[in-house]
Amino acid sequence: MLDLDASLGERLGMEKIIEEALSGHVGETGGLITGLRHVQERCGFVPGETVRIAAELFNISQAEVRGVISFYADFRDAKPGQHHVRLCVAEACQSVGARAIEADLQDRFAVKMGETDAAEFITIEPVYCLGLCSCAPAAEVDGKLIARVDGQRIADEVSS
Ligand code: FES
Repeated sequence: MLDLDASLGERLGMEKIIEEALSGHVGETGGLITGLRHVQERCGFVPGETVRIAAELFNISQAEVRGVISFYADFRDAKPGQHHVRLCVAEACQSVGARAIEADLQDRFAVKMGETDAAEFITIEPVYCLGLCSCAPAAEVDGKLIARVDGQRIADEVSS
């Protein structure tokens, strides 16, 4: 019973955060995207209940909201790990070992590309060019761009 009450309280708190993040952008050009970005900044991801709340606030269908969330790769629909790694797997990076780095990270952290490990320590996502092609392979670790990266460098970054 206590767990249910705590869960309800947590859910209502989350809904209030989502509503606050979105409501200031109703009527703005591109307001839905800006609002969704604020939801992700505050929650770390875009929780499922955002779809219903955004549809009500912006007076659009839930399918339209889902379409926007799924179109933009930067929106996450699940809670990320403590560290967020985006590994470039576009052509220039693949040609110099991005897939080997992916395999290395999978071994080191027991996590597959696009997932978060069981301990919620690290999330690894693919990205298709970080603008560092001439210094490939490249990754972004917790918002920091790293050129000529390898698995050890990423491990060092998330351990420091
Ligand atoms: S292809 Fe990887 S940074 Fe451009």
